[in-house]
Amino acid sequence: MTPSPCIVAGNWKMNKTVAEAKSWLARFLESYQPSPRVEVQVYPSFTALHTMALLASDRSIRVGGQNIHDEERGAYTGEISAVQLREAGAEVVLIGHSERRLHAGETDAMLARKLTAAIHAGLQPVLCVGENREDRQAQRHEDVVGLQIERGLAGWEPSAGIPLIIAYEPVWAIGTGMTATPQDAGAMHAHIRRRLEKLPVHIPEVRILYGGSVTPDNVAELFATPGIDGVLVGGASLDALGFLEIVRAAQRLR
Ligand code: PGA
Repeated sequence: MTPSPCIVAGNWKMNKTVAEAKSWLARFLESYQPSPRVEVQVYPSFTALHTMALLASDRSIRVGGQNIHDEERGAYTGEISAVQLREAGAEVVLIGHSERRLHAGETDAMLARKLTAAIHAGLQPVLCVGENREDRQAQRHEDVVGLQIERGLAGWEPSAGIPLIIAYEPVWAIGTGMTATPQDAGAMHAHIRRRLEKLPVHIPEVRILYGGSVTPDNVAELFATPGIDGVLVGGASLDALGFLEIVRAAQRLR
């Protein structure tokens, strides 16, 4: 069996106009050589998603949404459904990024419903989990992340035939320049795998990404850590060439 590719994902958050997204892509594609060992994903704002999907998909880049609503349609002003996102060209979607948990009050129960909505629409969900600084200082980070996994996956359907992707992003490492040590990240990834094995539902294929201040400078040691199947990159993905450096490191090291 060929091993699943390592994933390098860029989360642009609320950055880039359509014109900026196009010029990022043009710069990236000038030097990007796809490799079957590394899957590249980019998460633009909704406004640039369709354009990015049109321009990027035949260049081996999977485009994703940063959020969805859990209903398929209806009176939810300002929201976007999984079906709409899929039709606009997205193949993947972030579920429960810590900024959405914090600023939009997303709960694990809501995320479980979003996960189901994504699967039903044929979108690959990426469930984001991670503890905050107080949880880490109080040594309860494993319990916090364990509960996020358990509750977020409450509705996971084994029949979905979709691999599960989890992004472990410690909140204290996001946008702070304080990345987790490879040891801490590796330990949490191992904990997540153990926790998944205890769930009542069997999930045959799981990939776990690390996110939180990943840069071209620290990515090599993360890729050298067993159990890290890829990275979710925020700030450092905004620069096409910096992101390309991270992709190249993955291609070299995996
Ligand atoms: P960062 O963000 O790389 O800027 O820390 C990561 C993320 O929020 O996905």
